Parts: sequence; C-alpha cells; structure tokens
Amino acid sequence: MTTLASLLGNRKPKTALILGSSLGPVAEAVADPLVIPYGNIPGFPVSKVSGHAGKLVVGKLGGVEVAVLQGRSHPYESGNAAAMRPAIEMLKTAGIETLILTNAAGSLDVKMRAGSIMLITDHINVSGMNPLIGQQGDENFVPMTDAYDPSLRQRFIAAAGQTQVPLYQGVYVWFSGPSFETPAEIRMAQILGGNAVGMSTVPECILARRFGLRVAGLSVITNLGAGLEGASPSHEETKREGIKAAEDMKKLIANFFAGA
Ligand code: HPA
Repeated sequence: MTTLASLLGNRKPKTALILGSSLGPVAEAVADPLVIPYGNIPGFPVSKVSGHAGKLVVGKLGGVEVAVLQGRSHPYESGNAAAMRPAIEMLKTAGIETLILTNAAGSLDVKMRAGSIMLITDHINVSGMNPLIGQQGDENFVPMTDAYDPSLRQRFIAAAGQTQVPLYQGVYVWFSGPSFETPAEIRMAQILGGNAVGMSTVPECILARRFGLRVAGLSVITNLGAGLEGASPSHEETKREGIKAAEDMKKLIANFFAGA
C-alpha cells in the first residue's frame, strides 16, 4: 500500500504545518518543493471549500525540512469532527513530531484588528463535538493542559520579535460553523474568556495530542466578530484579509524555523 512515508522518499520532515483559509501563499516560501496532491495520499482529505487547495508541499522553510498541508477538511463539511484523523495519523506514522496549525479567525477584541496574528495559548470548545467521541481505549482520555506547547510558543514569540511582526496571544474558541456566529454568541465567547473565534484547529489539536504530537497554533485575524462595531463577517472577507496577512505569516514562520 502507498504510505506517506514512501511518497516522501528520502525526505524526512519532523514538522508539519497546516495552512488555513487563504494562507496558501505561505507554501510558496518552501524551497526545493516536492508537491504531492492530497488525492495521491491515502487518508488525506480532498476539500471542496474555495480558498483551500489540496496539496502537500514538502521542502525547506528557514532551512528546516517541513511538510506543509495546503488545505484541510473542516468538520462542517461532513459533520465528522474526526475528518482530519487519517491525515494526522499518517503524518505521525511518517515521522512527524510537531504540528503547527494555522487558521483564519474572527477577533473578540476590537484592539486586535484584521491583519493581526494571534498565537493560540489555549482553546475553548463550544461546538459540542469532539473528534475522539466513539473511540475505545484509555488513550482517548487525552490531557489538554499545555496542549499548545509552551516551548514552541516561546519560539514563536522570539521569532516575532526578530521579524517585527506584532504577535498577539490568546484563547481560540471553536464554533462548528459553517454559519458565522451571531452577535450574542460573540458576546458569550468574550464572557467565556476567548480572544478569537473560528471553525477549525481545535479538533486537529485534540487529534494531534492524541497521537503524541507537539502542537502550536496561529490565527490570522480576518475580521471583528459579528456585531463588534457592527461587523458582519463573510467568507469573501475571510479570504481577502487572509491573503493580505499571508506575507506576515510567511515571515514569522520562516523565522521560527530559522531560529530552530
Ligand atoms: N467566525 C468564525 N470563523 C471565522 C471568522 C469568524 O468571525 N473569521 C474567519 N473565520
């Protein structure tokens, strides 16, 4: 059977990066790229959402061999919170130890405007879903303390300092989507202690911790949450603002690896 490891050949990345909505341009920074369409990799999802290409780009970022997943499957596409499980398990089997998750998100703080980047310190799951529901075995009682690895966070803070990319830090709240939140839900997320809202990342973080991967998460803020200053977010806005912030994300991530 074809495995990801066999497709990688002599390339042995230890870190994978999942790119969120419209952050595809980050993959352009990969030197000496080996491009594998998801359709060729068993278990990898073929997404139909615009702004999400489905290819794995393997090569060097900041001099370090990485595997960049351009595109993800969201639980709202299928109702399956474990949609990314086969891909994450395959990454683990192929030797990946660290998973960096990126996403587009709405801000819960009017000071953190569109175009900002937020390092995820923790998350809140209000979706009612969990990718491990239905699984048998004690290994599914996954501890979620320090799920977003403190030492990886420190490295991102250092990289942000070097690149002069302003880096916010905060708690990401997962709503299932695909409808955007109501203004009342946004107020709830603020009261709960969230700093940003989005429709991805949390199930991937849970799955990655389940498979023993270290996790870091970064949000690109594409809009204020619904109702804040009259905001009414849309998918078009998410894509447009995501593309604008991709350059800063590219710099930050390349510097993260260069400082490794
Ligand atoms: N809500 C949920 N997901 C998002 C948003 C938002 O406001 N912006 C980008 N992704």
